[in-house]
Amino acid sequence: LNNSLSLTPAMGWSSWNQFGDSINETLIKETIDTMEKNGLKEAGFTYVNLDDGWQRYKGNRKDHPGPIEADPVKFPNGIKSLADYAHSKGFKLGIYNGPGENTCAGYTGSKGYEAEDAKTWASWGIDHLKYDSCCSHKDAPDSEVQAVHRKMSESLIATGRPIVFHACHCGWADIWEWAAADGANQWRIGQDISDDFNYPGNREKYYFDVLDMLDRGANLTKYSGPGHWNDYDMLIVGLEGKSGQLVGTGASDIEYRTHFSMWSMVNSPLLIGADVRTLSRASLETLMNQEIIALNQDPLGLPAVVVWEADDKSAQIYGKELQDKSYGVAMLNRGSSTREMSISPRRDLTIPWDEYRVRDLWRHKDRGPYDVPFGVEVMAHEARVFRLSNVEDAA
Ligand code: DGJ
Repeated sequence: LNNSLSLTPAMGWSSWNQFGDSINETLIKETIDTMEKNGLKEAGFTYVNLDDGWQRYKGNRKDHPGPIEADPVKFPNGIKSLADYAHSKGFKLGIYNGPGENTCAGYTGSKGYEAEDAKTWASWGIDHLKYDSCCSHKDAPDSEVQAVHRKMSESLIATGRPIVFHACHCGWADIWEWAAADGANQWRIGQDISDDFNYPGNREKYYFDVLDMLDRGANLTKYSGPGHWNDYDMLIVGLEGKSGQLVGTGASDIEYRTHFSMWSMVNSPLLIGADVRTLSRASLETLMNQEIIALNQDPLGLPAVVVWEADDKSAQIYGKELQDKSYGVAMLNRGSSTREMSISPRRDLTIPWDEYRVRDLWRHKDRGPYDVPFGVEVMAHEARVFRLSNVEDAA
């Protein structure tokens, strides 16, 4: 199955990380208005996705037969009017449900009503569906998980409306093995993210921090490409420990910047998880770095791989080829003190350039040309990110 969508990773906002199921029409409209005004839309963040909790009923779907409805108190004008609002401002609207009798937060799922629900969402003008089997099918055999996602994927395609399909299974089962063939445009590679850069304590309690997610994804890059992406989970930039939903005590501005840089390097969808109405200036600057976003949205769609790492893994270099034959490089210091790191195209990227130029994507400065390894200082938990190009190719 192939819906020809998401040729670059989806960018936008999702309600879950900050708000959980406490969502409503006013919040979503204010989110849209804010993203239009503060430059996030312009920077490429156009999907506004409702996660769990928009539905009218809690409980089993079989007890609530008939067309799926939005909660009339949270969404008094219905979802179609919200989609119209989003579209009128140049955004897209995403929605959420799951294949079970109910969803993780206990709302009615799509079991037995897949084709009907897909038609309902298409008639509302929905552009993105996160279909979440994390809870309802946690212990189901892979073949069943595959079948329920395929069923929804086919139902969406049958509506004739282009709807990006996110098959979410929280990293249970090897969904990446088959999700793309079943028409999924993205799938979560791990459990829920926590608002932490590196806090193993939360890993023990189910949650993955930024480094956990990177390590999980490092073995899965071959599954990711145009139209079908490894999803490292929604962004924690700007949550600052204030999320009503996620565990974690927050990260520093440098750590959020590193997180955003790395999600961009590996081509994860970039879905902001914080309240955009109260983002700090530092978080906004992080999220709107066009040179970093360009790595994520590069049309070649190659996710970065680890090209070098220290024996104790306290530092890593990620690299990836880009459409214009330059290379994106991130020098990631996972340790707790500043260190020197260096890269050479010949040694680390095995590209035979004699001389190369370096663009610093956070400092927005050109350096070089160099014909020797290029070295920088990297602070604890920082990623220095560069674009390297052959002097002969550079304009
Ligand atoms: C589990 C997912 O991993 C979360 O991102 C969120 O969608 C919740 N389910 C909603 O119940």
